[in-house]
Amino acid sequence: MTASSDLPYPPFELADRVIKLPSDDLNGYIHYELQGSDTRDQLVGMLPDGYSFEGRSLLDFGCGAGRTLRHFHDEAGSARVVGCDIDQRSIDWLNTNLCPPLEAVRSEVDPPLAFEDASFDFIWAISVFTHLSDNSVPWLLELRRLLKPDGLLMASYMGEHNSEDTAGEPWDEDRVGMNVLRHSQDWDLGGPMVLMSDWWVEEHWGRAFDILDRKPCGGQTWTLMRKKEGEITPEELISPGEDPREFKALHHNIKQLQREIDELKAWNESRKPGASLKRGIRRRLPGGTRKN
Ligand SMILES: C[S@@+](CC[C@H](N)C(=O)[O-])C[C@H]1O[C@@H](n2cnc3c(N)ncnc32)[C@H](O)[C@@H]1O
Repeated sequence: MTASSDLPYPPFELADRVIKLPSDDLNGYIHYELQGSDTRDQLVGMLPDGYSFEGRSLLDFGCGAGRTLRHFHDEAGSARVVGCDIDQRSIDWLNTNLCPPLEAVRSEVDPPLAFEDASFDFIWAISVFTHLSDNSVPWLLELRRLLKPDGLLMASYMGEHNSEDTAGEPWDEDRVGMNVLRHSQDWDLGGPMVLMSDWWVEEHWGRAFDILDRKPCGGQTWTLMRKKEGEITPEELISPGEDPREFKALHHNIKQLQREIDELKAWNESRKPGASLKRGIRRRLPGGTRKN
């Protein structure tokens, strides 16, 4: 057995890129280690009773420099354990330091990944769909393509626990479907911020997956889903359902985006000599983003 703490750690900027660390010293890396091992425990804890990794193929979609993936180092002896990310530096670091036995590949911003249909038994995407906007649905369906029949996907989303920080307003599920904020924000500032309601996930993700379980975890909602058979296009997955909240959510997202434009204007003004900016707004503007 190799403990994760016996493996090399990525440089601070790669570790801190995926989760805000308290400091760039030992204490920061202890935090990184514990958060990664906790994520692994939560993943394993939500899998069906008796689920074994032996002989399986696993994919960590959006793995960064392997915060969670490193905790599957031992399984990589008897299972195929792959990570992918758009960040070349993170993938290079993984390839140099933890592969083999792990595998790491760089993905493009948009699908597909260079794997055959039905390549994986279990895919997880922690804090990734929380930041995907236009490519969110294509990626969800790409992960479905990559899953074997009956394969499992664990994906997290932001919602009721993140509204104040992200949108600067109290949570109200009636006005959130899949609401995208900070659409073009750079990944190094946390990327776009996407809020989802449970009802929206059930309505839309539920068209492609059976939703098996859902629970709050690490300030987000984690959902375990099993691939449904049959074909579905991105248009079919995203088209509005009957729920009147679909329209309310779209309307509210427009309001949220208008508010962001106003805040950005205020921020620009505040950079003029002698000007100031309200604290709540500052936190949500460039450089003030919290990582999730
Ligand atoms: C908030 S971080 C979470 C990282 C990791 N899942 C974890 O929990 O430590 C989001 C990650 O998703 C990656 N990402 C964004 N778009 C992606 C894409 N299209 N394909 C793969 N990874 C992507 C980012 O580069 C980043 O490393």
